[in-house]
Amino acid sequence: MEDARVGIVGAGLMGHGIAQDFASAGHSVWLYDIDESRLSQVRDLLSENLQTMAKLQIPGNRNTEEILSRVSTEKSLRAVAEHCDYIVEAGVENLDVKLEVFSVLDEHAPPHTIFASNSSSLLPDQLAVRAKRADLYANHSLLQSTIPGASCRDRPR
Ligand SMILES: NC(=O)c1ccc[n+]([C@@H]2O[C@H](COP(=O)([O-])OP(=O)(O)OC[C@H]3O[C@@H](n4cnc5c(N)ncnc54)[C@H](O)[C@@H]3O)[C@@H](O)[C@H]2O)c1
Repeated sequence: MEDARVGIVGAGLMGHGIAQDFASAGHSVWLYDIDESRLSQVRDLLSENLQTMAKLQIPGNRNTEEILSRVSTEKSLRAVAEHCDYIVEAGVENLDVKLEVFSVLDEHAPPHTIFASNSSSLLPDQLAVRAKRADLYANHSLLQSTIPGASCRDRPR
């Protein structure tokens, strides 16, 4: 996953921070939100975050422009699905909304794409109930670790 193209669905408090972490780690990031006004503000927000971190000399966050250049905002959820290898869902905490998002992702993503949710309460298997590829669903935690669902392929035993 070194050069993975990462999709983030939901550019709110959690989503924009996850996008920032992946871009800082060198990945290209596609950021989608259903609210276009949020999308139009998010680059300024990321820029402010990165400049603050650079001033504080936090390692890995010195080259603000380079990190920002790796983040694209995207108005089409389908385009995120089609182009990304790893997609983190970070929309609102509502099962129906998340299932709708994952049904679009599941339909349009390439077969290898891994899906994760930043959900604080829903398990990967609840989010994969309509999935064609339940073995590729996981949880993505705040600490940038991925926790496989019970049906996940390559789950540690
Ligand atoms: N794992 C953790 O530590 C942790 C901590 C806090 C929140 N969370 C979870 O992360 C998720 C996001 O929380 P947040 O605090 O960032 O919320 P938030 O309200 O700040 O952001 C949610 C964003 O999702 C967007 N959105 C809503 N419906 C959408 C859709 N259908 N498609 C795309 N975008 C959509 C909204 O416009 C908003 O920008 C929630 O599931 C929440 O429970 C997890």
